[in-house]
Amino acid sequence: MTSTAPGLRIEPLSDQHDRESFASGVEPLDRYLRQQAGQDVRRRVASCFVLVGDGDRVPIGYYTLAATSIALAEFPEPLAKRLPRYPVVPATLMGRLAVGARHRQQGHGEFMLFDAFSRVLRNDIASYAFVVDAKDDNAAQFYQRYRFRFLVEGSRRLFIPVAEIAKLFS
Ligand SMILES: CC(C)(COP(=O)(O)OP(=O)(O)OC[C@H]1O[C@@H](n2cnc3c(N)ncnc32)[C@H](O)[C@@H]1OP(=O)(O)O)[C@@H](O)C(=O)NCCC(=O)NCCS
Repeated sequence: MTSTAPGLRIEPLSDQHDRESFASGVEPLDRYLRQQAGQDVRRRVASCFVLVGDGDRVPIGYYTLAATSIALAEFPEPLAKRLPRYPVVPATLMGRLAVGARHRQQGHGEFMLFDAFSRVLRNDIASYAFVVDAKDDNAAQFYQRYRFRFLVEGSRRLFIPVAEIAKLFS
């Protein structure tokens, strides 16, 4: 894999970014950035981060993060047994991750995923699991490379315990 080039950076979505020209080839993900992401950020229901090159206004990619909670019963039994008997467990949801169609397979998806991991690790607010909603089997396979597993068999939701992410970074 080619690693993400120097000069690229990840920053919060702002009016400086040209959302209209972002094209991942996945219409719902492009439409979300164009029409919804700004509002979600303003209403504090999601954070949105974009990967951009020096002097570029068109994002190479973006992802969103939000706090969520997962019912204890949804976790696999061996993990659930080691958790306190609270009905829900705090988690972080990466609701969307997209790389522009022209920029795929250059390490940008991994770079943004690791950036999201590092934000969760730096956060003072506890989160037990990092959760993603894979839009299809292909996306699920991408996440499985990074030790994500399905929360409930048959669903599209995958997770990795934040303690495991911490080990990856140690
Ligand atoms: C999934 C996606 C984010 C991956 O981004 P990317 O920048 O192309 O991926 P990277 O270049 O960082 O790939 C990192 C590694 O994962 C592999 N990979 C990339 N996409 C993959 C996929 N769909 N399935 C399995 N492995 C994949 C790469 O080959 C690379 O492996 P390597 O290190 O052995 O070379 C991108 O394809 C995308 O935006 N897809 C459409 C939207 C989508 O599915 N989003 C996911 C959540 S809904």
